[in-house]
Amino acid sequence: MRKKIVAGNWKMNTTVAEGIELVNQIIAKIEEIPQQVQLIVNTPFTHLFPISKIIGDIKCPNCRSKLALGAQNCADKEKGAYTGEVAAQMLVSLSKAVGTVVGAPADAVGAPVEYVILGHSERRGYYGETNAILLEKIKQALAAGLKVIYCVGEALEDRKAGRHFDVVGEEIKEVLFALGEEDMKKITVAYEPIWAIGTGETATKEQAQEIHAFIRKSLAEKFGALAQQISILYGGSCKPSNAAELFSQPDIDGGLIGGAALKADDFIAIAKSF
Ligand code: 13P
Repeated sequence: MRKKIVAGNWKMNTTVAEGIELVNQIIAKIEEIPQQVQLIVNTPFTHLFPISKIIGDIKCPNCRSKLALGAQNCADKEKGAYTGEVAAQMLVSLSKAVGTVVGAPADAVGAPVEYVILGHSERRGYYGETNAILLEKIKQALAAGLKVIYCVGEALEDRKAGRHFDVVGEEIKEVLFALGEEDMKKITVAYEPIWAIGTGETATKEQAQEIHAFIRKSLAEKFGALAQQISILYGGSCKPSNAAELFSQPDIDGGLIGGAALKADDFIAIAKSF
């Protein structure tokens, strides 16, 4: 069975203190989340260290495995003179440093940074990240041992012109088709129509299912039966009131949540919508 995933993309929101409070509120309700659902919080870089420690400190083992930590970006280079960039290796090294914090037991290890979001339309649109750059980022992330949530999605003009399959198909083929099968097992795809992000407008369940099925069919062209095992998430104004109908679709395996992930109650309610 494919993994059910509800991932929060916090984007550039919350102070560190607010982020800590938010993750604590999520943890307080984590027992309500069905065991088969993987929750992920993808926080700003500045928040990863304290939140790694907090998630690492969750006592109940069943609850601990329900919540994973992720970043929202990584560099397309391994290391070196790239001012302002954060390497995938640095993200992976973070959890082991928790034991160096004053007051922590020397053997304390935080929750690993396990995931990274790459290909988000905000990165493509505002920061000029092309398919070629994203492929390099994905290679760095995978080489460091991270799993990748790879986002695809079309703009409103593309959908109106009926080009959405072409745009999404290209984002899949130019990037994911360059990976081998073992690497592909570490990829989760997120379909995020740009016109639905932060707009309150959501793709209908039929629109979303149609393109999720198309993504799976495209993946099958290259990866065969493995395509059936890849989780494909929907993102774009997903909220408690529409999550259940979206998640009931055969090719929708969960959500990548923006605004509603900033409220613990909404995030938890979405995760209970399967
Ligand atoms: P919203 O849920 O705020 O529309 O954002 C979706 C998104 O971009 C998640 O990555």
